[in-house]
Amino acid sequence: MKTRPDKVGRNSLCPCGSGLKYKKCCAVKKTSSTPVLKSEYSRKYKIRFKTPEDIEGIRNAGRLALKMLDLAESVIRPGITTDEINTMLHEFTINNHAIPAPLHYRGFPKSVCISVNEVICHGIPGSRILEDGDIVNVDVTPILNGYYADASKTFFVGVPGTEAQKIVEVARECLYRGISMIMPGNTTGHIGWAIQQYAESQECSVVREFVGHGVGLEFHEPPQILHYGNKGDGFLLLPGMVFTIEPMINQGERYLHILDDKWTVVTDDGKLSAQFEQTLLVTENGYESLTPF
Ligand code: MF3
Ligand code: CO
Ligand code: CO
Repeated sequence: MKTRPDKVGRNSLCPCGSGLKYKKCCAVKKTSSTPVLKSEYSRKYKIRFKTPEDIEGIRNAGRLALKMLDLAESVIRPGITTDEINTMLHEFTINNHAIPAPLHYRGFPKSVCISVNEVICHGIPGSRILEDGDIVNVDVTPILNGYYADASKTFFVGVPGTEAQKIVEVARECLYRGISMIMPGNTTGHIGWAIQQYAESQECSVVREFVGHGVGLEFHEPPQILHYGNKGDGFLLLPGMVFTIEPMINQGERYLHILDDKWTVVTDDGKLSAQFEQTLLVTENGYESLTPF
């Protein structure tokens, strides 16, 4: 669990980065307007604030998601097919009394998404054989006792080249920089801003067509979490919100197309794309990852 220190002095600089004193900034927002905002966000935007019981349920699903990613990492090697990885993760999910949310979701035919090299996301496990030097994203969403947790990592197959190493490290850092913006008083736009700034500073690009999302009671809930944009855009982050951050970062241009299977999303220029995803809770002081890595 990661949270910020409990007490921010009223006269110290606000942790949201505004440059104002805490008492003139988020302390005010927190005490005076949170209940009003929460009811407006629930009513108008259908954002479902999670109870302590919900959070415990999502945390448990998150623990299973991380075990699934560990299992994937332990079997990934040159020569294995993506379908073999899918089968192992499917069985592991069922054996742990959970359901794989992707299976039959809007017609998706498999239990996890596996996206290799130029595949940005939503790769369908199949007969593709992993080769030395590939990068492979495994995206898992178990439903445990009715609660959803969504997480993904990009792994190396065998020994990575310098290009592969670079895009994977940039994507991981984008996720971490996005997460570091989570605190009451900031908005969803702060997250997107931090990600876009860093990705573009590294001469990489951010995919815009797919976004993070509220999660926990359903697979995809409001709000959308854009991985680009400006500080102050979007929704205020309020305690009890649970959402994913899952930046898809391209080595070349951000443009994409979808294959004839209607799912597989690939880069237009055929260059590499990498992604990491966690499920995050907004707390009073910052955040807690429910899928911490
Ligand atoms: N896990 C993906 C996400 O991060 C969604 C996959 S939808 C599926 O939101 F149908 F392809 F599984
Ligand atoms: Co997601
Ligand atoms: Co996911």
